[in-house]
Amino acid sequence: MTTTSTDTRRTEPEDITAAVLASFEGCPDERLRTIMRSLVRHLHALVTEVALTEEEWEAAIRILTETGHVTDDRRQEFILWSDSLGISMVVDALAHAKPAGATEPTVLGPFHIPGSPLRDYGESIVERAAGTPAWVHGRVRDLAGAPIACAELDVWQNGDDLLYAVQDPNAPEEHLRGRFLTREDGTYAFLGVRPVSYPIPHDGPVGRMLESTGRHPWRPAHLHMMVSAPGYETVRTHVFDAASDYLDSDAVFAVKPSLLRNFEQRSADDPERPSGVDGPWCSVENDVVLAPAASRR
Ligand code: BEZ
Ligand code: FE
Repeated sequence: MTTTSTDTRRTEPEDITAAVLASFEGCPDERLRTIMRSLVRHLHALVTEVALTEEEWEAAIRILTETGHVTDDRRQEFILWSDSLGISMVVDALAHAKPAGATEPTVLGPFHIPGSPLRDYGESIVERAAGTPAWVHGRVRDLAGAPIACAELDVWQNGDDLLYAVQDPNAPEEHLRGRFLTREDGTYAFLGVRPVSYPIPHDGPVGRMLESTGRHPWRPAHLHMMVSAPGYETVRTHVFDAASDYLDSDAVFAVKPSLLRNFEQRSADDPERPSGVDGPWCSVENDVVLAPAASRR
């Protein structure tokens, strides 16, 4: 009797790969079929290429199991794997190819909390001392330079304890986050703090991967913005401090040169000092350019 490449009795690695690929031929969802077959092809190729041992495969399963165990409402270890392996940035690049001139997106990260309080122009997001006050301001515009009124900026950042509020059970619920609407002329402003570089959570499986591969867990200082307006593509982006460490070795590969900004040191007697600030402070200007909805390069 002749055998075919889909004969499951043949047990060479390439025969097993062929049998698994064939098992998806009847999948009625074409996209799912494509993804599953590609997944199998690449996983089998990886196992074969490195001649993965049984011990190594068991270790991989233990790591995945632990990833599930440490993931909950406040800790997302699966996103950390995606980020630390650069997958999030590749998915982002494919999904959000923006026309020239539009603000570039970058990784969302695991610390965004939906439903932040809607705050007034110029209001502070700092609910307890968290570092050097930073006046963050700019304008939201379209590709032609026209201001976009009523655009929403959802912002979140860390403080000088290196933490986002969601990482600290003792932090005030709405600390270092807020939503702002642009004024008629497209301007926005809020009082935050100068962000600091910080390590991604590294006390779990991702941290062990970083440590055992000689990588560090640090991200350069940044604050997060998700900017949306009707008729425009939402952009999830960062404002990176151009003076920060780790700009050349971000643990999650999310730095784009167009997103670097200068945080200017200002003195306590500067006449533009925002109300509520009584010592040295800094300011950063960050315009955001939105692309029309569904535009592609
Ligand atoms: C963040 O910027 O908040 C972040 C992004 C990826 C992994 C961990 C944190
Ligand atoms: Fe961050």
